[in-house]
Amino acid sequence: MAEKLRAGLIGAGLIGKFHTFMIGRAARAGKLPFEMGLAFDVDETKLPPLVDMGWEIAGSAEEVCESSDLLWICVPTAHHKPLVELGIAHGCAVFCEKPLGRDLNEALAIGKVIADRPAQVGLVLRTAPPFRVAKEAMPRIGEVQAISFIDDQFVPVQKQYASGWRADPELAGSGVLLEHSIHDADLINWLAGPVNWVIGETGSFLNIAPGIEDMASLQMGLAGGGVASLNTTWHNVTGRESSRHIQILGTEGVIVIRHEVQGPVEIHVGDTSEVLELGQLFARMLEIEPGWYGETDLLEHVCNEDARFVRAVVEKAPPTPSIEEALEAHRIVQAGYDSARTGERISLV
Ligand SMILES: NC(=O)c1ccc[n+]([C@@H]2O[C@H](COP(=O)([O-])OP(=O)(O)OC[C@H]3O[C@@H](n4cnc5c(N)ncnc54)[C@H](O)[C@@H]3O)[C@@H](O)[C@H]2O)c1
Repeated sequence: MAEKLRAGLIGAGLIGKFHTFMIGRAARAGKLPFEMGLAFDVDETKLPPLVDMGWEIAGSAEEVCESSDLLWICVPTAHHKPLVELGIAHGCAVFCEKPLGRDLNEALAIGKVIADRPAQVGLVLRTAPPFRVAKEAMPRIGEVQAISFIDDQFVPVQKQYASGWRADPELAGSGVLLEHSIHDADLINWLAGPVNWVIGETGSFLNIAPGIEDMASLQMGLAGGGVASLNTTWHNVTGRESSRHIQILGTEGVIVIRHEVQGPVEIHVGDTSEVLELGQLFARMLEIEPGWYGETDLLEHVCNEDARFVRAVVEKAPPTPSIEEALEAHRIVQAGYDSARTGERISLV
């Protein structure tokens, strides 16, 4: 390995540009021993802006893998597996976007390819202040009795999601539950799991394409005895941003998350109540995890999942969310589809 690790990127669409921004923040901060190297996208029109953001342009995915120690895979889901195989064959540590695969079997196959190599999955909401603060507050709310996740988004093939692959089951695998709400399955499992059983229903109101559902409703049994519900939809309300509303009801406290990124987050315990707006969430985040190098800009490291990945690789620590954690979310999602198809309650234990 070179003295500085070299980062590489495959896929320069929506999330590839987002990671580029975050990777750039961490690289420019200069505290982690890595630098931006090569980037590639099959669509050449996507590449020029990346040069301004610090990448050199490669002629192929293989070229990126050959020259990278750290590889970000940010392509439609169907292409994750071949690119993970390529990256692992070239000795890269791999950051692969979620969902890992188009179904549980493909995700498990990717897990086998990665085996014990350093790898992280783009379940990025765990790093968002509302969820980090909620996670920290969980021990204060007693036993979790019930959780409600309501998640809605306009059909993501337009506006900032201006690409059609999410409407193609060959590329996406399925619809809103896998493509969007695997985040919710992961968050429920992380905050209050493990999830022991799943009952699911799915629906297609908008006829996006056969196999691309726009509604899913899951009930999930938590190991502690409580129950989580998830209602998630894709709709035609293009003026509305993607939004999650969450209530976590415990015997001693209640947590309400009104927006997944900005908050506010309400924490009610016994007689006390606090409402944390975005600035207070940032401050609380820095109490939970102070800036690694004394910095106060959360996007440089603490809330930057790409910096977290680089640091884990540098320190030879296991990156998180790990492949196994992502597979747990895949198992929940798959159980939701299996339950919807069979009408059965699916056990995960
Ligand atoms: N973590 C998150 O919150 C989050 C958010 C959005 C998307 N995603 C995931 O990221 C992945 C990409 O989504 P997106 O929104 O960026 O899609 P996108 O359509 O905006 O971008 C995908 C890019 O990959 C390129 N591409 C396709 N096949 C390729 C290949 N074989 N080699 C190189 N480039 C290729 C396309 O040309 C396109 O530029 C998906 O798996 C999606 O589920 C995750």
